[in-house]
Parts: sequence; structure tokens; C-alpha cells
Amino acid sequence: MPSATINVMEAAARKAARGLIRDFGEVENLQVSRKGPADFVTEADRRAERILRAELAKARPGFGFLMEESGETEGEDTRRRWIVDPLDGTTNFLHGIPHFAISIGLEEDGAMVAGLVYDPLRDELFWAEKGVGCYLNRRRLRVSSRRRMEEAVLATGIPFKGRAGKDAFLATIGTAIDNTAGVRRFGSAALDLAYVAAGRYDGFWEFGLSPWDVAAGIVLVREAGGFVTDISGRAVTIQGASIVAANDRLHTPLRRMLGDSLKESVEDGVPGSHLRHAVSSNSPAPVARAMRREPHAGRSSSDPGDARADPTAGGNGGPERTGSERTMTNAERIVEALRRKPGLDDDELSRLADVTPRQQVNRICRRLEREGKLRRERGPRGKIVNDPVR
Ligand code: IPD
Ligand code: CA
Ligand code: CA
Repeated sequence: MPSATINVMEAAARKAARGLIRDFGEVENLQVSRKGPADFVTEADRRAERILRAELAKARPGFGFLMEESGETEGEDTRRRWIVDPLDGTTNFLHGIPHFAISIGLEEDGAMVAGLVYDPLRDELFWAEKGVGCYLNRRRLRVSSRRRMEEAVLATGIPFKGRAGKDAFLATIGTAIDNTAGVRRFGSAALDLAYVAAGRYDGFWEFGLSPWDVAAGIVLVREAGGFVTDISGRAVTIQGASIVAANDRLHTPLRRMLGDSLKESVEDGVPGSHLRHAVSSNSPAPVARAMRREPHAGRSSSDPGDARADPTAGGNGGPERTGSERTMTNAERIVEALRRKPGLDDDELSRLADVTPRQQVNRICRRLEREGKLRRERGPRGKIVNDPVR
């Protein structure tokens, strides 16, 4: 039986969905008009958000909000807030592609405790509550039980004009193509996570998503028995720069596979230079090597990751030696990569931080600065700019 909270979320989603379905019908007509449906869709999106806000506020007056269109509103109840995407899959909606959803998550004391993703066109209501389980309408859901990467179907998101993360995406898609049964890009991260929970996809990864894209989906996957972390295996947060969700068997191998492909491209010196690898190398993909090395060994649901996920931890690079035969540690290889990239700014660093905890990168940069190898200055908008000293 869904709880009162889920009932509130469902009622709000169904009410907003009625408007979206009507508007989607109109968008299909507008495709052929000269003006196009863009403004109309923006209005549909806002209308849906207003309905969701009004309904949720009526049922739970004190709760705060974090909504895609209207931003953050603190409630009297500072412990709880709704995290809402009124229309996830806007580009699909705009183009008349029937794949989009409403996503509502409930956060309590900083942790996601309930999630609902509603696909109005298929009338599929995915919902989950912490400790209660995950359901599609009234049917209990469970993640898939596939354990072989070569049989897995994954979903991802592809960055587009104006979005960061192209290099990270290109690094990871190559390895996913080489090692799985297929990758899908359907255009709604909330539904991608719901589909992982439903066992339709075996895994999902994406970079640069927003809190409202993932808030509900995280609860769905967890409650369906799957794992969700960032690409380094750290506990996922709704603000995270990356997300990897998968069934319990494939999560660790998938995360390592993707993480290794990022490391490879960073160690190559230039993020994205893995493309050279892809066309010129006959050697087995590093991922395949990594997977042979790391068979799945059942992990706890928090999957806290391990030292191997951190290229600066020295685990892969071997112990640091002294003298002439001293080899470079992974940390130093990363620094080399940083140094070869002139004008590296904080955005680049955060992307690298996807494979290396930010503090470590910062620490390395500070050390390089002390050694006179790197100049760190505040750029025009106050951002730290790291410049190799030649
Ligand atoms: C988008 C979708 C898409 C993801 C994008 C998101 P929106 O949300 O979730 O799948 O790849 O990054 O921005 O803009 O349609 O609400
Ligand atoms: Ca979204
Ligand atoms: Ca949206």
C-alpha cells in the first residue's frame, strides 16, 4: 500500500500530467507551423510546475521546494523539501517524441526518502519510498539480474550545445560500445533511472545532471535493489557531477569500466585523446583488462568504492620509489596532464575531479605552485586559473 506521502505525490503528478498530455497533443500540431512550438513548450513546462507546486504545498504546507523552473524555496519545515522536475525530457516533448516524465523527490534531512517518476503517455507510475520498496503502478520492481557486461543494455545522456562534459562522455561511450550489448539515449534521465529500477536497463551513467533530474530516480533504483554512486564510487549526491546506477551485480564492474576509461584519457594528457587510442590501438581495451582483473564480488548497497577508483591513491601506480629507477605515480601522471594543458581553469579541474577527488587535485596544484611549476591566479570572474610555468 502506498503511504500518504506517495498518495500526495501521485495526485500532484496526475493532475499536472493532464495538462502535459493536452499540451503534447498541441505540440504535435505545432511541429509543422512556421513559428514552431518552443514558446508553447516553455509555457507548458511552467504550467506543470505551478500545478505541482500548488498541489504539494496544499497537502504538505510547511515543506520547502527545489524546482527546475522556480528554483529554491525554503519552507517552515527546514528538514523536508520537494525536488521537482515538472517535465524531464523537454527536447523530446518539443519535438513531438513521446518520451518524457514528471519527477518528484522528497528529501528529508539531506537524504532522499521518496521518489516518483510518472510517464503520462504510457501511464507508468514509478514510485519508491525508503524501506518500502519500488513499484510500477501496483507491481513491485526489482533491478535486472544480468551479470555479464556483454549482455547488458545501458542508458546514458549525450551532452549537447552549451553543455559541459563532452570529453568525459566521449571517453566513456567508447568503452561502453566495446563491452556491452548496446547503449540507449532516450532523453529523460528520470525515466532512465526508473528503467534501471524496472530491470529494463542494466545500468545508466551520465555527467552534469541537475538535482531534479536524479532526486526521484535515486530512490527508485535503491529501493529496487540497485546501486547508485558517482563514477568514483562515492555516495551519490543530487548535486554530483556524475552518476552511475546499475543492478547490484553490474554496478561495480560498470563503474570501474567507466572510471578506467576516464583515467586513460586523462593519463594520455589531453582529455578526449582516447579517440586516438580507439583508432590506432590493437591492444585489448583497458576496460576489458580491468574487468578480467576485477570479477564482481558482492558489495554492500552503499558501495563506497575503493582506492583503485582514485588514480592518485597509488594503488594502480605502484609504490613510490626513489632514485633514478623511480617511476611516476598516478598522481604525477595526472599532474603532467594538467601541466600540458595551458590555462587550465577550475571547470577543467572539476572534470578531472571526476576521477580524482577535488582536494587531491587542489593539493597537487598547490604543491606545483610551491615548486614554481604552476602559477595560480584569480581570473576575471574570480575563478582560479592554473597556468604552467614554462
Ligand atoms: C534533461 C534530460 C536528459 C538529460 C539532460 C537533462 P530536461 O532534462 O533528463 O535526459 O540528458 O541532461 O537536462 O532538460 O529535459 O528537464
Ligand atoms: Ca530534467
Ligand atoms: Ca525539465
